[in-house]
Amino acid sequence: MTKRKKMILGNWKMYKQQQNALHDFCAIQDGVLSSSTEIRVGVAAPYIHLSALSQRRKDNFMLLAQNVHWEHEGPFTGEISPSMLKDLQVSGSLIGHSERRSLFGESNSSTGKRLRGAIMCGLEAILCVGETLQERESGKLTETLREQLTTAFKESHLAACDFMGSHPDTPLLTIAYEPVWAIGTGKSATPLQAQEAHNAIRLLLHEFFSQSVASKIGVLYGGSVKSNNIKEFLSCEDIDGALVGGASLDPVEFLKLISNAAR
Ligand code: 13P
Repeated sequence: MTKRKKMILGNWKMYKQQQNALHDFCAIQDGVLSSSTEIRVGVAAPYIHLSALSQRRKDNFMLLAQNVHWEHEGPFTGEISPSMLKDLQVSGSLIGHSERRSLFGESNSSTGKRLRGAIMCGLEAILCVGETLQERESGKLTETLREQLTTAFKESHLAACDFMGSHPDTPLLTIAYEPVWAIGTGKSATPLQAQEAHNAIRLLLHEFFSQSVASKIGVLYGGSVKSNNIKEFLSCEDIDGALVGGASLDPVEFLKLISNAAR
């Protein structure tokens, strides 16, 4: 059985002024690197801070954007291209976060294009999926996840491209399952609910990709993850890590969460 490396990512959303971002980024990075944990850790910061943070970033710590366009350049006001991120030595990007979908009208199809743009440029892509409460309550969990993943994979022609890059054990694709009703609400999914969704995602990955590729793609859980519930999630068979919003904003809480995850 393939052993996937655990991954814990913070999503800072639209929080922190630059001095605070620099201070907290360094505090988290130093804490993680001095603990010599096996877990891959990183932070997705607002675009405007990426240049400054990138200058402080050390090897083995991930710096991510929160979104990325699919074209290399062009008349796309307000967008940032994959090559611009690469140029700043940013490790990758979140793609298709539910806040992008629900508040800014991003579709499964444009998410797929962003996914392709990122991967083709050698960036790590964290593809976010998840159901609304209404979809869950009407029994459409699997259908929703299938639609989100298959449209993104088809649109990005992902099955046909080599996204294992030069690191055969760390594919450029990671999935983050974030049930919309659990984001920022303090109401996380139960480990059983999360495991059920992760298992459905894993089966879908095996439908879409070869066994050797699918088994290496990590699936993270996101939605009200804190230092006091991370262990329960990680004890589930198909949960490989977490995408953390609110609890990643305070370096002390985030480092505690990472240390609990390592136990
Ligand atoms: P919270 O951890 O604040 O619920 O946010 C989750 C999230 O949206 C991470 O991308």
